[in-house]
Amino acid sequence: MTAYSELLAQLPTQPKTWLITGVAGFIGCNLLEKLLRLDQNVVGLDNFATGHRHNLKQIQAAVSPAQWARFKLIEGDIRKLDDCRAACGFGDKGVDYVLHQAALGSVPRSLEDPINTNTANIDGFLNMLVAARDAKVIRFVYAASSSTYGDHPGLPKVEDVIGKPLSPYAVTKLVNEQYADVFARAYGFKTIGLRYFNIFGAHQDPEGAYAAVVPKWTSAMIHNEPVFINGDGETSRDFCYIANTVQANLLAATAQHPDAANQVYNVAVGDRTTLNDLFEAIRVVLEPRFPHLKDFKPSYRDFRAGDVRHSLADISKARTLLGYEPSHRILEGLVEAMDWYVSDLT
Ligand SMILES: NC(=O)c1ccc[n+]([C@@H]2O[C@H](COP(=O)([O-])OP(=O)(O)OC[C@H]3O[C@@H](n4cnc5c(N)ncnc54)[C@H](O)[C@@H]3O)[C@@H](O)[C@H]2O)c1
Repeated sequence: MTAYSELLAQLPTQPKTWLITGVAGFIGCNLLEKLLRLDQNVVGLDNFATGHRHNLKQIQAAVSPAQWARFKLIEGDIRKLDDCRAACGFGDKGVDYVLHQAALGSVPRSLEDPINTNTANIDGFLNMLVAARDAKVIRFVYAASSSTYGDHPGLPKVEDVIGKPLSPYAVTKLVNEQYADVFARAYGFKTIGLRYFNIFGAHQDPEGAYAAVVPKWTSAMIHNEPVFINGDGETSRDFCYIANTVQANLLAATAQHPDAANQVYNVAVGDRTTLNDLFEAIRVVLEPRFPHLKDFKPSYRDFRAGDVRHSLADISKARTLLGYEPSHRILEGLVEAMDWYVSDLT
């Protein structure tokens, strides 16, 4: 039995209370669905800055009424300490685990609007740390980012070796790790940072200027609109399916290994895919349902500022200390994700 399958078997017998910040967003609502299916109690915090009510409606439709009744939404803002405290609760009524996802994502957004990125991602993060510490949560798991590797050229990326940040977004995610580390040293607070590498899957928003590449291209291909590749297409990423990300969060919150806490971990697959190969993979998966994609080609344009050229994770630390083992490689994830996008976008 794997560590994760053991956890999945055990959780429903011992319901806990989890706080998911950013619960209406892509990763947050996937965490919500999994935890409700495991009969857990969930508090969600979101201000709907980039998240959507329709994500929550879809989760409601996917779980039983009894499971949905275990979810409490707090419409609030992590930039307000009182909202964070209300979500974490106090004393006996406090939540057990925090999965902190709320932030303003996207490198380009941060280059255009560094101030609002900073406020949500650093002030909001510190508020959540203080509220969770005061509520004595068992563990605070937070969304860190592969952008923290910055300009370091080494591949694969190993947690201890980082370069200089290439964007305001990357600065915010690095500062999150530093604050989490200080809270461990100064207050004995237990945190785990998960450095996500390009996550994709159901509920990821295809709309808007800051949409991620998988949903943006999928939507464009389905609707026969142009797909733009920034640069020559040989830029590569370690694309990670959402089920792997959910697994990493649940394992991180509950990991028993004595060295597991107060660490950061890569959350990825350990495979590198170029943008050209990603385009082709999505096209091939969609083509049987959308014959217009038979000879569909991308358009190339300039490289995008702030983007790193290559990204590939070493995931051995998460394997060793958390028992993490990706359940989906990129193609398996794309097949599942495409099913969802086809039903959602057509
Ligand atoms: N998706 C990825 O590939 C990826 C990669 C690295 C890191 N991350 C990080 O993972 C986390 C989740 O990302 P996502 O892809 O689900 O993004 P998302 O935009 O879909 O979700 C973020 C959620 O946070 C909420 N939010 C934003 N500001 C808030 C505030 N001030 N108060 C309360 N709620 C607020 C949004 O409304 C949204 O629901 C973020 O911290 C992001 O930086 C994501």
